[in-house]
Amino acid sequence: MEKGSEISEVAESLRTAHKLLFITGAGISAESGIPTFRGKDGYWRQHNPMELASPEGFAQDPALVWEWYNERKAIIRRAQPNAGHLAIAQLQAAIPNTLLATQNVDGLHQTAGSKQVVEIHGSIWQTCCTREGTLFLRDAVDTETEVPPKCKCGALLRPNVVWFGEALPVEPITHITEFILAGGIDIAFAIGTSALFAYISGWAWEAKEQGARVVEINLDPSPISTFADFIFRDKAGTVLPQIYQAMQA
Ligand code: APR
Repeated sequence: MEKGSEISEVAESLRTAHKLLFITGAGISAESGIPTFRGKDGYWRQHNPMELASPEGFAQDPALVWEWYNERKAIIRRAQPNAGHLAIAQLQAAIPNTLLATQNVDGLHQTAGSKQVVEIHGSIWQTCCTREGTLFLRDAVDTETEVPPKCKCGALLRPNVVWFGEALPVEPITHITEFILAGGIDIAFAIGTSALFAYISGWAWEAKEQGARVVEINLDPSPISTFADFIFRDKAGTVLPQIYQAMQA
């Protein structure tokens, strides 16, 4: 089916939709200038993010890991939500019963006006104490003057993000799972994610099992491509506004 008619079909489904699920990954922020993890620009100073974003990497060189996070925060501070983020916020405003499960830690969905955002992998804007687990919200602590930053108790602070090999936070995962198992999702969007983690493709699959149509928007194939009802191999910042405009037509 050619892209125009697929856009129209998704738009048609949206007109009668009451419940939406969005699952997003680094690809939704790529057009805001934020490097994805597995693209060509995923590396940083020849370091593999998988090594830096890990308890072992942090234990080995907390200062290097914090330099990486501080540089990412500087990039994100300069970034603006792109047309893809904004179109998702518009769709959520049009169909309020939605959940936006994002793997991104940049906070751009919230800046774009999205509601019901669940940060599966935490937030780069939050830090926590490695000894007591105390959580410090956005800008509550300065992580750039002293690197690595320390808590008042003397222990190291770490970014409040999920690292490779770490367990996912229970509350967000429960929230997403309950939203899906309650059924009734009309459309599940999988946007800009390689879906390498089984829980990501599993949520999309479960939504489909519950009757949702699955829409993948991704430049590259992913495990979700094998069961998506619609696949747009194009930029999220292009496709999502087209879908929203077609829905308004
Ligand atoms: N529009 C749509 N898709 C895009 C765009 C774009 N403008 N730019 C890139 N993509 C696609 C890429 O083709 C790729 O399939 O987005 C996907 C990004 O995949 P990853 O870089 O693997 O990012 P993500 O899926 O979010 O990774 C998941 O793994 O590294 C960990 O914790 C980290 O949250 C991250 C998780």
